[in-house]
Amino acid sequence: MRIIFATGNAHKLVEIREILDELSFQADLMTMKEAGIDTEIIEDGLSFEENAQIKARTVAAALPAEYADAVVLADDSGLEVDALNKEPGIYSSRYMGEDTPYSEKNAEILRRLNDIPKEKRTARFVCAVAAVFPDGTEETVRETIEGKIGYEPRGKNGFGYDPIFYLPDLSCSTAEISPEEKNRISHRGKAFRAIAGILKR
Ligand code: IMP
Repeated sequence: MRIIFATGNAHKLVEIREILDELSFQADLMTMKEAGIDTEIIEDGLSFEENAQIKARTVAAALPAEYADAVVLADDSGLEVDALNKEPGIYSSRYMGEDTPYSEKNAEILRRLNDIPKEKRTARFVCAVAAVFPDGTEETVRETIEGKIGYEPRGKNGFGYDPIFYLPDLSCSTAEISPEEKNRISHRGKAFRAIAGILKR
């Protein structure tokens, strides 16, 4: 099976390749760029699922004839903080501006939660993955990891909002666990495994 992933993010490609390997799933996986597609994608959906579908459909519509038999995958993810009305949500990477360092974005979220007690600091990472098949049919999955916003940034692993995303069961943040452990429990790990299971069928 040939799979084209609608991402420019090489790290995501590595993650999904590892998950396909775990499932002994033979697939020829490449980024949209490797398939020669550089179409602009306008992510104007109102949910993670819609944005993943928009990306997958845009790339599927731009596939060169030689890739007509490929499945297109796209993902969209972000952080929902309940006490902030689910912000930053689908705007997670754009929150406070795309180029603002995460140290500042995380400090701002902690500041906004200053008066919020522990039990109301619930949050989750969400990941939606959409697949568009060569016959035009689609599948979309959504997975989450539940946690709480901590009181200070902790840990050096991961990226983005990981240092402030606290896992009560493990008593640490997602920036304090190994990449392998994060992959096992994360929204993205779960969503990639779910879509890989569907592709395998
Ligand atoms: P996208 O899925 O590449 O659009 O990423 C959305 C944004 O959500 C990222 O830039 C991060 O800000 C945030 N995000 C998504 N997943 C994670 C995660 O596992 N850890 C920390 N931040 C995340």
